[in-house]
Amino acid sequence: MDREHFYSIMNGEGTLDYELYLNTKKLLTCQKDFHEFCNADELQFQIVHQAEELWMKLIGYTLLDIDDYMQQENTNRVITLFRRVHIALRLMTDQLALLETMSPKEYQEIRLVLGNGSGQESPGFRTLLRMHPLLWQTFKSCYLERHGLTVEKIYHTEYSHSDAYIVAEALAEFDELFQKFRYHHLQLIHRSIGLGAKSLKGRSVELLNEGLRTSFFPELWEIRNKMTDTWGQKYGVVRDSIGER
Ligand code: HEM
Repeated sequence: MDREHFYSIMNGEGTLDYELYLNTKKLLTCQKDFHEFCNADELQFQIVHQAEELWMKLIGYTLLDIDDYMQQENTNRVITLFRRVHIALRLMTDQLALLETMSPKEYQEIRLVLGNGSGQESPGFRTLLRMHPLLWQTFKSCYLERHGLTVEKIYHTEYSHSDAYIVAEALAEFDELFQKFRYHHLQLIHRSIGLGAKSLKGRSVELLNEGLRTSFFPELWEIRNKMTDTWGQKYGVVRDSIGER
């Protein structure tokens, strides 16, 4: 059996029920034809990006469901669905490692066929970047204001490990995992084209650091600073050694 034989059967006929339901005919031809790849790494490059888009579609769709359930204060549903979002984000980050198996030179060959495409044009990523105001507004009105609560109360002065606290932590984890994806993606750039490079749009790769400094739900991070300051007042800025007491 030669390579061409396997190429000819790899995409299937698309006629069996499994193939019809999953639309495998379309799915498996969303990549370039085997003979069109510029090198042996390009299939992986396309598949990783396409799979990432699918995960982002699932995450965006799930976040809309989460928003509905937050409005109903159905915390069990909210938490189960956040778990789905968190797992998908971890998968997104883990998958980046596949591209570490591509050498810098092979990536340069692929880069020649990318036009001026940029990850910033990703429909999934752009959607996720726009969803946090909606989620925060719903959380605030349904879990906090409706009950006379504030972030400060649920984390500190009235802390009781309440539903509002649990949902807030799920939001924080979503925020953190999104940033972890960005951080690992930057490491991947470091490894493949270098952080001193320019993007295909001519922008400095360093600009991606700005995204790394932003967060979706700053109030959930700020409360930790405030608590440390408040509790720290007991000992001042620098604490005495336990041995000196
Ligand atoms: C070797 C692999 C990769 C390289 C060298 C690379 C390189 C880059 C560069 C240079 C940028 C900045 C673009 C600009 O300023 O216009 C960028 C942004 C981006 N890339 Fe990649 N990328 C790679 C893989 C991926 C993968 C697998 C994904 C999957 C989703 C991805 C998603 C993104 C996203 C979402 C952005 C925008 C990030 C932000 O604004 O924080 N990239 N990438």
